Amino acid sequence: MNSKIFNDIYRANVKRESNDLNKYLPLNRTSFFAFGRIALREGLRCCELKKGETVLVPSFICREVLSSFTELGINIVFYNIDENLECNYDEIEALSAKGCKAILFVNYFGFPHPVRRLKAIAKKCGILLFEDNAHGFLSCDKNVPLGLRGDVGIFSLRKTVNVPNGAALVLNNESLINNPGNELYEKYKIVKSCRKPEIKHILKESVRPFMAFSGNTFRRVALNSCWSVKRALSSSIDNGDCEEHVPAGCFSQFSMNLLKKIDLSYEIQKRRSLFFSFKSMIDNIKSCAPIFANLPDGVAPYGYPFYYNGNDINSFQDSLWKEGVHSLNWPSLPMSVENSHPKFYDKIVVIPFSW
Ligand SMILES: Cc1ncc(COP(=O)(O)O)c(C=O)c1O
Repeated sequence: MNSKIFNDIYRANVKRESNDLNKYLPLNRTSFFAFGRIALREGLRCCELKKGETVLVPSFICREVLSSFTELGINIVFYNIDENLECNYDEIEALSAKGCKAILFVNYFGFPHPVRRLKAIAKKCGILLFEDNAHGFLSCDKNVPLGLRGDVGIFSLRKTVNVPNGAALVLNNESLINNPGNELYEKYKIVKSCRKPEIKHILKESVRPFMAFSGNTFRRVALNSCWSVKRALSSSIDNGDCEEHVPAGCFSQFSMNLLKKIDLSYEIQKRRSLFFSFKSMIDNIKSCAPIFANLPDGVAPYGYPFYYNGNDINSFQDSLWKEGVHSLNWPSLPMSVENSHPKFYDKIVVIPFSW
């Protein structure tokens, strides 16, 4: 495996004096949180969604996202997606007409979910569009940054850049922005520092240079140790990754200072170049097929997603791991769809482009 690939995945943020953060997160209508789940819950509150009301959510989603709805008593109706990771618009229209209040759609792995027909359905049915852009900070649909296309955008920043924690809620709809009850800054102040995640971040950054330049054995041992520590901490500190409770935490000035200094253009270029490197490697494996054949201009992918069509996905992931490549069979599906989802969901693997 080419050492530049590991260097790119594990390298520290490249810094500069200032960046164009405001392009991706317009600061006059963005609120910052520790987790995307908190941002989503607060977004639902901003839209005044109430207990017993319904939101359409794709069944291809990680189970912990449901906690934002559970905490507010909001009902979820699941819709399936197809093999291009796109919804069926007729199904969405039929479900919307039955009286839901909002549709949540996901930009999977940082690729823009088409939005034109969803907007038309939302307008026709008088409902709101939530753009879950947890995977797509810095990614654009032509020239429009993802997360700014629906009424509400949700981001999980730490999935794209190296910050201790961090997520954002962007309000794009004028009537939501101008609603005085939505002055989130008052309720969710950015705290000066957030000790535990920041200590974890500093420790991680001290290991990072060795991750880029050491061999596979070192990387595997280091990653396994980090996961063990993370698992131990998450079961004792917060509520872990469950469907019922959103984890606690705040966004800190420490993370904000980092975020304002990251060279975002470099990060985008790095992700695009990793996409092509992994594409040429994975497309050569007989049992694998790409999900996205092309990388449109402006897209900054979360990772390289593909289908594994062989019989033993665990052994396949182990073989990547032996090469030093960490992959995820994303996501852990919600319990209520575990036995009823389309079979191709289980074949999706992604190689993340950051650590
Ligand atoms: C599609 C999607 N939305 C939202 C979230 C929630 O983000 P966070 O983990 O920051 O709460 C995730 C997390 O994995 C996700 O994959």
